[in-house]
Amino acid sequence: MVTPNSQNEDVVKRTKKHSFFSWTAQDAINPISIARAKGVYFWDADGKRYFDLSSQSMCVNIGHGNRRVIDAIKAQADELVFASMNAVTKVRAQLGEELARVTPGDLNKFFFTTGGTEANENAIKMARAYTGRHKIIARYPSYHGSTLGAMTLSGDYRRLANEPGIPGVVHIFDPYKYRNLLYREGDSDEVFTRCCLEQVDEVLKYEGPHTVAAIFIETIVGTNGILIPPDGYLQGLREMCTKYGILLICDEVMTGLGRTGKWFAVDHFNVVPDLMTMAKGLTSAYLPLGALAISDKIYDFYRDKVFYGGLTYSAHPMCLAASLAVLRVMEEDDIVGNSKRMGKVMSKLLADLKAKHISVGDTRSIGLFGCVELVKNRKTKEPMSSYTKCSPEIVKLSSFLKEQGVYNIIRGNILHTNPPLIVSEEELREVFEIIDKALEITDSFTEKS
Ligand SMILES: Cc1ncc(COP(=O)(O)O)c(C=O)c1O
Repeated sequence: MVTPNSQNEDVVKRTKKHSFFSWTAQDAINPISIARAKGVYFWDADGKRYFDLSSQSMCVNIGHGNRRVIDAIKAQADELVFASMNAVTKVRAQLGEELARVTPGDLNKFFFTTGGTEANENAIKMARAYTGRHKIIARYPSYHGSTLGAMTLSGDYRRLANEPGIPGVVHIFDPYKYRNLLYREGDSDEVFTRCCLEQVDEVLKYEGPHTVAAIFIETIVGTNGILIPPDGYLQGLREMCTKYGILLICDEVMTGLGRTGKWFAVDHFNVVPDLMTMAKGLTSAYLPLGALAISDKIYDFYRDKVFYGGLTYSAHPMCLAASLAVLRVMEEDDIVGNSKRMGKVMSKLLADLKAKHISVGDTRSIGLFGCVELVKNRKTKEPMSSYTKCSPEIVKLSSFLKEQGVYNIIRGNILHTNPPLIVSEEELREVFEIIDKALEITDSFTEKS
């Protein structure tokens, strides 16, 4: 017999019986059932409310349950549900026009996929075909997706379990100031940037720039810690790529569509990549969709050459309709502006946490893309947890947050703060009050200096 109080447990138990879950040992998972969602909140099957501080997987950018998007999806279903990959549809024409308006520079053509991983896979193929070179320079500790090619690009520990991957991928370090060994206390951003770029140039010389098809980066590393490059770094990479005839590919799967307070993270640096990928916020996850944005010069290359790639669900009309409606909502409600404005509030709230809690080693944010990096010792910067095995301290922290009705991603020692971009100041303050309390737990495990 299922009592009303145990519906959550019942759904979890029945689902676990027949589902296989991602990125976890199957017995280790203790999921929340999600029954309904609205705005920045969702409710479990027992009616418990959670603040969605991770926008699910940093993807529900416009918030849950937006009526205009739901109605657009319904209307598309009434009009036309599916058309094969090379058919054209009204919604495909419209979305292309809208996307070209918001993407930077000459990124004017879009190859539609069903998610971010596939967009990245196709970017690898295009870069290799266009340049006639095979190597790809990627970075530690990025994440680019879970298929073999995208996984090989990824610079975090998840790659190791999937090796050997594709040949020709070389990793360089991210300008992760808090932990990069090239950074010396007191160095200006200019000095640090120069050191990082010189290191990239050195790697390229050893690899042979003429063998390198692309430098493939998350513009701002997301899941692995919101690593915002110092000003000048991205511009430097762009110059280096142009000099050697290497393509610059920016993965904006997480950072794109307003997350950082601009349409795309590259816009903060006025850099135009040769290829750029996006997903997540592209439909705010109302339906699955990814896209590879292609610059005019690469499109021109393919005018008389076959692109050897395709997907049954490429440009699925339902997903495109969701995306078109999301872009309209973003403009009508000035979602990017809100991300920028609330980003300033969040940045201050994060700084307050750092000033108050000894377990906070660093905080980083840009727009509503933020995190708290937790340490056991501020001097040695010893992480509060490793990535591969969650420490008991982090388990306690995460149980407390769950109990208090806060849903957020904590990976290793990184506590993410990535709310839907519609969040209000009041809502932000409400959830940060809970985080403030939660950090008393981690403080009790940090050495006082
Ligand atoms: C930066 C980045 N690239 C690629 C991906 C993979 O996207 P998807 O899971 O939609 O395939 C992700 C997913 O988290 C991501 O954060």
